[in-house]
Amino acid sequence: MSQRRILVTAALPYANGHIHIGHLLEYVQTDIWVRFQKLRGHRCIFICADDTHGTPIMMRARQEGRSELDLIAEMHARHAQDFADFQIEFDHYGSTNSPENRVVCSEIWRALRLAHLVVEADIQQLFDPEAGVFLADRFVKGTCPRCGAPDQYGDNCEKCGHTYRPTDLIEPRSTISGAVPEIRRSRQLFIRLEKLRPFLTEWTQSGEHLQREVANYLLGNFLQDELRDWDVSRPAPYFGFEIPDQPGNYWYVWFDAPIGYIGSTRQWCDLHSERLDVWWRNPETEIHHFIGKDITYFHTLFWPAMLRTAGYQLPTRVHIHGFLTVDGRKMSKRDGTFVLARTYLEHLDPSWFRYYLASKLGPRLDDLDLSLDEFATKVNADLVGKIVNLASRTAKFVEGARLSDRYPEDGGLFARGVEAGAEIADAYEQGDYNRAMRTIVALADAANPYVEESRPWSLRNDPAQADRLRDVCSVALNLYRQLVVYLAPVLPRLADATGRLFGSPIVSWGDASKPLLGATVAPFEHLMKRVERKDVDAMIEASRESAPDPVHQDDDGPLVAEPLAATCAIDDFAKVDLRVARVVAAEDVPQAKKLLKLTLSLGGGQRRTVFAGIKAAYTPDQLVGRLVVMVANLAPRTMSFGVSEGMVVATGPGGKDVFLLGVDAGGRPGQRVH
Ligand code: 2FM
Ligand code: ZN
Repeated sequence: MSQRRILVTAALPYANGHIHIGHLLEYVQTDIWVRFQKLRGHRCIFICADDTHGTPIMMRARQEGRSELDLIAEMHARHAQDFADFQIEFDHYGSTNSPENRVVCSEIWRALRLAHLVVEADIQQLFDPEAGVFLADRFVKGTCPRCGAPDQYGDNCEKCGHTYRPTDLIEPRSTISGAVPEIRRSRQLFIRLEKLRPFLTEWTQSGEHLQREVANYLLGNFLQDELRDWDVSRPAPYFGFEIPDQPGNYWYVWFDAPIGYIGSTRQWCDLHSERLDVWWRNPETEIHHFIGKDITYFHTLFWPAMLRTAGYQLPTRVHIHGFLTVDGRKMSKRDGTFVLARTYLEHLDPSWFRYYLASKLGPRLDDLDLSLDEFATKVNADLVGKIVNLASRTAKFVEGARLSDRYPEDGGLFARGVEAGAEIADAYEQGDYNRAMRTIVALADAANPYVEESRPWSLRNDPAQADRLRDVCSVALNLYRQLVVYLAPVLPRLADATGRLFGSPIVSWGDASKPLLGATVAPFEHLMKRVERKDVDAMIEASRESAPDPVHQDDDGPLVAEPLAATCAIDDFAKVDLRVARVVAAEDVPQAKKLLKLTLSLGGGQRRTVFAGIKAAYTPDQLVGRLVVMVANLAPRTMSFGVSEGMVVATGPGGKDVFLLGVDAGGRPGQRVH
C-alpha cells in the first residue's frame, strides 16, 4: 500500500458562538477519518481555524464594549479547549483573521480580477441609521410581503417559505437597534459565476467528488439556469479584510472563510518547514473537506470556482453530513437539548459521545439522531459490556505476569479478526462508521463466548491450571486489543490505556494482525465507566434555558433571581479606588449602540476617558458639568473606539433607567468616596 498525502479540513466554526454537540458531530466525524488515515500509515494533516469576520462579531464586540480582536482571541482559546477535551486533534487550528490568510485572499482576488470575473454594481441595501451599519438579511425583521406573517427575517419567511430581498419586507426594523432602516445605495463587487458554469457542471457531476444526492441537488437547483453573480464585498463598517483595490470595502466573510483553509495550512507550513504548494497545488495531494449540508452551496460552487481561477488544487472530495437531532427533534434550548460542549464535559465522558456518533454515522446526508436512551444502551451494552469487558474480566488474573509466548489455540477467532480488518478499513474509508462499528461488535460477540466457556475465574483457584489460565487470558486480551486497534480512530483514549496495559502503544493498523506474545501485563486500570442515566438527565437539566422568571414587584423594586457573587473581603473592596469626578466633556459614539465617551476630571489636572453604556439614559449635554462617581483605578481596556480608563458608577435596571450617583453638596473632583 503506497503512502497517500492527504489534507483534511472541517468547517471553520464562527467565532461568535460556543461549540455545541451539533458542531461536534462534524468534528468527531472528521477526527475519526483523520486518525484512521494516520493509523493506516498515510501522511495526513487536519487543518481548521476560527471563522472570525462579519457583522455579528462586530456587533457583539460593540455590545460588550470590547474590541473584535479581544473577542475573537477569547473565543479561539475556548474553542481550542473544547476540541482538545473531545480528543479532536488538529494539526493546526488557526484563524481567518491572520496575516497569512490576508495574503492568500489578495492573491486569489488578483486572479479573479485578471480573469475578468469581478464586476461592480450598485445595489440597494437597508442601513441602520442608529447603529450606523448596513444590515445583513438576518439583522432585519418585518412582515412577510407574501403571507403577511409578522416578525420574519430579511431573507425568507419561516411561515410560507417565500424568499425575498430584505428591502421587500413590510415595516422592516433593525434587530440591532429597533430603528426603521433606511434604503441606501452602495456600490458592491460581484463574482461572475456564470462564466464558470461549464466547469462547475463538469466538476460537480463527474461522480468523483460529491455524494450522488448532492450532485443531483446542485444540478436541479442551480446549474441548469444561469448562475447569479455572487456579492463578495461589504461597505464599511465591517469587521474583515479591506479589499486592497477597493478602499472602504471589505471582503464578505464567506469570501475569506474557505480561503482560511489555505491560510491556516500556510501557518502550519511555516511552523513545520513545509511548502504550501506541496499541499495545495500538487495533484498528488488529496484534499478532503467535511461540512454540513447547510453550507453545500459555498463549498461546491463558490469555492471550486475560486480555486480553479487561482490555480489551486480542487477538492478530491467534499464529505457532506446531515444535522444532529436529539430524541427525534431539533436541538432546543427550552428542551435542554442544545447542549454546549462544555456542559457535556461537565457531566459525561467524551469517549461515549464519539462512540455513539460512530455507531450511527453513515456516508449519506441523513440527519443523525441522538436518542438519549439508545446512547446509554449502546455504550453500556456494546462498548462496555462486550468490548471493554473482555479485558476487565481477564486482565486482573495476569496482572504483573507475562502473556503466553506462543499464541494459543482459539478456534480461529484472532484470524477471523485479522480477516475482518479489510472490511472495517473499507467502511472507515467510505465514511461508513456505522458499518465499521457493527463489524467490530460482531467480532466481540464471537469473542465473549470463548471467555464464558473457558471460565478463567474458576481456573485461577487451581494451581495445576496456571498455564491454561494464562493461555485463556492471553487469547481474551489479544482479541480485546485487536478490537481496540480497530476502534482507535474513535476511542484514542481507550487505545492509549490499552497500550499502557501491555507496555506496547498502538501505533498502526497492522497492530491488529499480530498477537502480542510474552508481554508483561501492567496493573489493571479501570478502562471505561458505564453511562448513568442520571448524569445524562443532569446534563439536559443544566442545558435547559427556561422562560425568564416572572418579575415580582415589591417595595424594593424588581426582584431578579440572580445569584450573588462570591463574598469579597473588605481588603479586596478597599482596592477599588472610587473617586468623585466631574464630566468635562461628553460625546456620542455613533458606531456604538449604548456608549457615550466621557472626559472626566479628577482634579489636579488629572483626566480620564471613559466609555460608558448610558446612551439610552442621558444625552451628552445633560452630563457636562455634572459630578459622578468613578472607579478610578480600573485597568485600562482597549475598545475599537479608543481606550477606556475607568468606569462610571450607576444604578438602575438598564436602558433608559440608568441613574448616575449624583454627588453634589460637599463633593469635589478627586475626593475619595470610601
Ligand atoms: O457555517 C459556518 O459555521 C461557517 N463558519 C463555516 C465556514 S467553513 C469555511 F468555508 F470556512
Ligand atoms: Zn410568508
